[in-house]
Order: sequence, then structure tokens, then C-alpha cells
Amino acid sequence: MSNYHIKNLEEYFQVYRKSVRNPEEFWEEVAEEHFVWRKKWDSVLDWDFSKPEIKWFDGAQLNITENCIDRHLHIRGNKTAILFEPNDPNEAAEHITYRQLHERVCKFANVLKDNGIKKGDRVVIYLPMIPELAISVLACARIGAVHSVVFAGFSSTALATRINDCEAKMVIASDGSYRGAKTIDLKGIVDEALTQCPGVETVLVAKRTGATIHMEEGRDHWLEPLLEKAYSDFPAEIMEAEDPLFILYTSGSTGRPKGMMHTTAGYMVYTAFTFKNVFQYRENDIYWCTADIGWITGHSYIVYGPLANGATTVMFEGVPSYPDFGRFWEVVQKHKVTQFYTAPTAIRALAKENLDFVTKYDLSSLKVLGTVGEPINEEAWHWYNDHVGEKKCPIVDTWWQTETGGVLVSPIPFSTPTKPTYATLPMPGVQPALMDENGKEIKGNQVDGRLCIKFPWPSIARTIWGDHQRYKDTYFSAFEGKYFTGDGALRDEVGYYRITGRVDDVIIVSGHNLGTAPIEDAINEHPAVAESAIVGFPHDIKGNALYGYIILKETGESRDRDNLKKEVNQMITEHIGPIAKLDKIQFVPGLPKTRSGKIMRRILRKIASKDTGNLGDISTLLNPEVVDLIMKESL
Ligand code: WTA
Repeated sequence: MSNYHIKNLEEYFQVYRKSVRNPEEFWEEVAEEHFVWRKKWDSVLDWDFSKPEIKWFDGAQLNITENCIDRHLHIRGNKTAILFEPNDPNEAAEHITYRQLHERVCKFANVLKDNGIKKGDRVVIYLPMIPELAISVLACARIGAVHSVVFAGFSSTALATRINDCEAKMVIASDGSYRGAKTIDLKGIVDEALTQCPGVETVLVAKRTGATIHMEEGRDHWLEPLLEKAYSDFPAEIMEAEDPLFILYTSGSTGRPKGMMHTTAGYMVYTAFTFKNVFQYRENDIYWCTADIGWITGHSYIVYGPLANGATTVMFEGVPSYPDFGRFWEVVQKHKVTQFYTAPTAIRALAKENLDFVTKYDLSSLKVLGTVGEPINEEAWHWYNDHVGEKKCPIVDTWWQTETGGVLVSPIPFSTPTKPTYATLPMPGVQPALMDENGKEIKGNQVDGRLCIKFPWPSIARTIWGDHQRYKDTYFSAFEGKYFTGDGALRDEVGYYRITGRVDDVIIVSGHNLGTAPIEDAINEHPAVAESAIVGFPHDIKGNALYGYIILKETGESRDRDNLKKEVNQMITEHIGPIAKLDKIQFVPGLPKTRSGKIMRRILRKIASKDTGNLGDISTLLNPEVVDLIMKESL
């Protein structure tokens, strides 16, 4: 187990050096020791970032669910695999053992098969955080179908776009969902989406809220009766190492969402390896990641990584504020959680509330705390460290992306000394580089630049579904021979990395990636809107919030502004979802543009952030006069 569980800083450096000197040998050892393979690989790594083409463990055969479930049965059959904590604290938690998980996944796989799903088909999953979500993900993997989970907070339009993009034949949904005190009509959203999705033949519906819903004859089926009848074993489909495992959509700075495609073997090896090391996972720990499985964090660190390690992973259906702001800590106490992984935005929201919500619970079970999704500010870091970890739990600030599949930069708890706001050091096998604007690598310490990765790691996304050219353009064209992350970063005097934020037109709001273009497209559909531009500005809880500058058409000029603002946010909710609503809307006579017609977002960002001391040279703009006009009326 020597290279698998890092125990101190010296060992980290040893392992890291080895992983960089000889990556193939390093990853081969990890893959050899810790997984079950139907057939071993012919080569560990083939890669060419110029195409780009990346293959890990080519020639190997496996099924990831045999690694996540079957192989644990004889030693951990009665151990809890998934610990489901419902939205309502008065509803009992559900402990699903590895044996039960095996049975439920097999039954589900049989239902998929009986409904015409076979290896390679795409299945869209639109479910709340209930056990069926994890089980359906695993059932797809067992049968070799490619799952694409769509976060159940996305609107019907966003859902339809994703279903059509990956040409899914089936959608798995529920009647409704609970979110704090609210009940959401999930099936209604699906029905609306499906009016635009002629390719969907079947909808399987899990019962959660018991709401009365429309069931389309011939298309929609209740899941429960089908599962009851289904056979409880299902031989795992044998998959090639590079067969697609899932597609997960993420926002880009332009246009349509990008369906990041992850494949089987490398993803499994890397998520299992990082889970174990980043959380210093030990047998019998109770691990809880508060993310939704609709995001990459949930894929890698609620489902695949923990289960590949035979861990107990908590699945939480609710929200941090329901029934009150102590819910997280009540759950930690109740289940004696040992590792707790959440987003800075949640920490900031909870830190604003009375400290009693934390102190009245016994948090002594906690060993390691984690954050992910956006930079964590110093104040939130200290609050987390002082009041949740009681200064005894290292905080792992984990930097990574949907595209990277797993954590790339993070402290190793009890090995890497932490430093507030720093993600610190690269994981074994990860080779970061900071680049200047001319495409040159910036060497040495105490420098900052654009963050790239020079060498492939096993869980890098292999393509954008249906658009390999876009994959190449987005990630491999800005800096030759390197994967470009879209983030800026600095490296301090000892080589620690701090992620400073996006350098493209993606804005991270409450940990969610939002592209400016899709939001602007949604706004521009409003009949009174001529043009719009979205930028981010700092927000206490969300990290960033959205500021919209909107030019009205002449016909819109006479409309009531408050009503228009509401309608604009309504458009956004319908096209994307409530997470993309604008906090501030300013109607403007024009937008600052370059002579080639490009909107100067840098200037708009400064105005939105009330940082107008140094706007830079605006004289070269096509219309410098609008800058003053916008500033005068800024919100
Ligand atoms: C940001 C989430 C600072 C970053 C796993 C990245 C972070 C984007 C951190 C990916 C962190 C994520 N510190 N920034 N610890 N973690 N980010 O695809 O800008 O939802 O590029 O993946 O979130 O977001 P995504």
C-alpha cells in the first residue's frame, strides 16, 4: 500500500517525484494493486495533446461497478455503503449496505435492459438526491450505458438541450422533490422538456413526494413495480478501459453547454486514489460530501471514489438551512461523520448565522474538512477551522474541475501544512505550469499566471461529446502542448498554489459555473431587449453575483423598469434555472465595445465591482462616451 496512502510530507515529496519522473510506472502500480480487472492493459498511457488524444490503460477490460460494489461483498457485505439522510429530519435515515446496493443496482440494470437500454446508449438522469440517483448511475455503469446526470435545479429548457445534445433514449426522473420547506414538481419540468425531445422513448419515474402527476401512456413507467419484479442479479457488462462512462455538462464561456465525456478505467483509478489520499480515508470512517450528484463533485466524491474504496458515503437530500441553520452539524453529530466536504458558499452562509447553531452539536467525530468549487476567502476559512474543525481538523482546499474528473491540487491532510486560501500542492502525477500571456511558462516561485497542466492524469475528460474540435479549441489551443484550465493562479515562495479565479467568461456563483453567453442569450430573447452583457461582482455569500447591463429596444423604453427586471429574471429561470438569476440589472444606453465590436467586459466588471479608480485606457473604444453614462447610473 506504500504509494497509495501518503502519510507525511516527506513521503508526499517522494511519491510526487516518482510520479513525475515515471508516470506510467506510478499509475500502473496503483492500478495493479487496488482494482479488479477482467483483463490487464496493453499500454498504460498513450497521449498527444495536439490532437488531442489521451488513452489510459488501453486494452484493459473491467466494469467499474465490480470495483465499487461486487468486490466488497465478501468482506463488507453488511457494511453501509450509502447512508441516506432525508430532507426532513423526522424521516428516518436509510442505511444501504453493500449487499443491498448490489441487489438494487442489479435490479435497476435489469429494468434498464428490459426497457431497451444497452451498452453505449445514453440515459439522462434528472433526480433529486435520493438513493435512486446513485443507484441509477451505477445501474447505467453496470450495463455499460452512458449516464448523463442533469442537476435537478436546471429548467426544462436546459434539460431538453442536454437530452438532445447527447441523444438520450431514456430519462430517469421522480414525481417530485423536496428542498427544505419546498416541494418541486420535477415531473412537470420533465414533461415540458420532453415536448422538445423526440428521441426519448422511455421515462422511468421514482416515487418520492407522492404528488399527482401526468404519466404519458406508453412512455412513462413507475419505477417501483418494475424493480420489484426484476431479477436481483445482473452480470456486469465488460467494458473497455476507454469506453465512455458518463457525460456531464458544464458551462463554457460561449454557446451551448459542453458535454464533458469521461471514460472508465482512468477515471476509476484516479478518483479512488485521490479520495483515499485527499480525505485520508480509513475503514469505518463516515464520509460526507454535501454536493449534489448532479455536479462532478458528487460523481467523483459521493459515488465512485468512496465506493471504490468500500467507504460509507452519506447522501443528503436537504439544504443547510432547513429546518434551521444547524442542519449540517446535526447530521454530523447524528452519524458521527469523520470527513466533511462542502462549498465555500455554504460556509459563508452559515458563518453569518448565530454560532449556537454550531456549538450546540458535538462535532468531535470530525477528522478532516474539505472545500471545493470556488476560492475560499480567509474569513470563511478561519470560521470553518475555528468553529467546525475546532482547530483540530486540517482543511483540504481542493482545486479541480468537471473536466479534470478528480482533485488536482490539494493538501494531503496531516502531511501538507495548510495555508488559508491556498490549495497548496499538486496531487501525485499532476504537473501544473503557470503561463504568461505570450504563452511562455513562468518558472520559479512568487509568480502568477494562467494555470495549465503539462501532462495527462488518468481522469482527464477525453472529449466534448459530439464536438472534439471544441474540446481542442477550448483546452488545448491557448497554450501549445498544454491543457489550459481557464483559471488564474499564483505560486508562493514555497511553491504552494493559490487559485485566483477564472480568467475567461465563466463566472462562479455559489460554486456553480455559469457562462455569460447562455445567460445573455436567454435575456436577449425578451422582446424588449436589444442587447445585454453579464459580469460578476463580489458577493458576501455567493462569492460572485451576476450584474446585467441591458440595452432596451425602442419599444421597451416606455415599459416599467421593475416589471422588466422581473421578466428578465423569469426568462433566465426558464432557460437555465434560478441559479443564474441576476442580482442587479442596469438599463444602459450602450455597451463599451472595441473597434472590432467586442464588449469590453473588463470595464463592466470594474463598474459592477465599484472599482472605477483605474479603468485603463478607454480612448481606443468605439464608444468611450458610454462608460461615463454607465458609471453615473451604476447600482
Ligand atoms: C473553481 C468543481 C478555487 C475553478 C470541482 C474551477 C476553485 C471551477 C476550487 C471548476 C478551489 C473549483 N479554489 N477555485 N478549491 N475548486 N474552483 O467544473 O474556477 O464545477 O475552474 O468543478 O471552479 O468548477 P466545476
